[in-house]
Amino acid sequence: MKALVLAGGKGTRLRPLTHTSAKQLVPVANRPVLYYGLEAIRDAGVTQVGVIIGDTGREVREAVGDGSAFGLEITYIPQAAPLGLAHCVLIAQEFLAEDPFVMYLGDNFLVGGITDLVDAFRGSGHDAQLLLTKVAEPQFYGVAELGPSGEIVSLEEKPAHPRSDLAIVGVYIFSPAIHDAVRAIRPSARGELEITDAVTWLIDNGYSVHSHMVSGYWRDTGRLQDMLECNRIVLEDIEPRIRGTVDGASEVSGRVVVEAGASVRGSVIRGPAVIGAGARISGSYIGPYTSIGDGCVVEDAEVEYAIVCEESTVRGVSRLAYSLIGRNVEVVRAQGMPNALQLMVGDHSRVQVRA
Ligand code: DAU
Repeated sequence: MKALVLAGGKGTRLRPLTHTSAKQLVPVANRPVLYYGLEAIRDAGVTQVGVIIGDTGREVREAVGDGSAFGLEITYIPQAAPLGLAHCVLIAQEFLAEDPFVMYLGDNFLVGGITDLVDAFRGSGHDAQLLLTKVAEPQFYGVAELGPSGEIVSLEEKPAHPRSDLAIVGVYIFSPAIHDAVRAIRPSARGELEITDAVTWLIDNGYSVHSHMVSGYWRDTGRLQDMLECNRIVLEDIEPRIRGTVDGASEVSGRVVVEAGASVRGSVIRGPAVIGAGARISGSYIGPYTSIGDGCVVEDAEVEYAIVCEESTVRGVSRLAYSLIGRNVEVVRAQGMPNALQLMVGDHSRVQVRA
């Protein structure tokens, strides 16, 4: 068994962060979301991993390296343009050869790992195994319609009028039969080679396609609220540890990680929360479900239910919540203009202020 991890693509829904950074590297509890997928693959006993990379390939390579830090052997497979999930299989054919493989979308977050799924597929004789889960807004996903005995009747990519509320989760397992399928299909109306079309081809040609309902927690981290929720889920189970310094005037409660070199002075940290290496927190309140990245500065501020990426500053702001702040960002109180908001915000940003 091999794995194919998709870490190319565009990331339009997390702009402006993804203008400059790969969406698979947006941090959850201060670690790129992609790391959780790579660890799940390793834990399932799969070590040979092909990683599809696009425009942000350099950054992904820097973050993942040769895979040895994860116990994996990584082969990078550059994709010239994001031409679809099935296109990724097409260009990975040489790497995948005649092995069955797990295809893992690098921005997906699945609690509970994939070991059971991989074990179930081994020796099952199936040619494809899809994971499905009920979602509130199926129009944003690939959607499966099941027949009376649980067989897949139809698959559609982001349909305007979904036939069910069963979304396709971004972890698929395929036998080598998928290679014939991805060669046989044509680009969809949006110009992509769709994996849903390839799986439909397998069904139409008599191959065995199986589906499983996901019982645990799953999110596609493409949207802000999903990122924040994944952050919450990981922080809920985080092992508390204080490696940095916390002064006597501070109060730390709940599950809190303060990484090496971080300092907390005159502040309240109410976990679950993580304070990254070298971060400086002073005169502030850090509320539950907050990740403060490495090297951040939080001064005289309140931050709650938020992800603040590395090297950013939050000063004199009360209170920042439900927010995702990129890297090297400054969120500070304006001086000398009491009633004005002074903003310099990147393209495709969203700022919500109290009137
Ligand atoms: O998250 C589950 C959904 O993922 C499924 O329900 C859909 O059926 C499936 O098409 C996919 O939809 P998304 O709109 O979320 O796909 P996205 O374009 O975000 O791509 C998923 C991952 O694959 C992401 O990490 C980027 C990467 N990718 C994507 C494309 C289209 C590539 O590496 N190359 C590509 O050409």
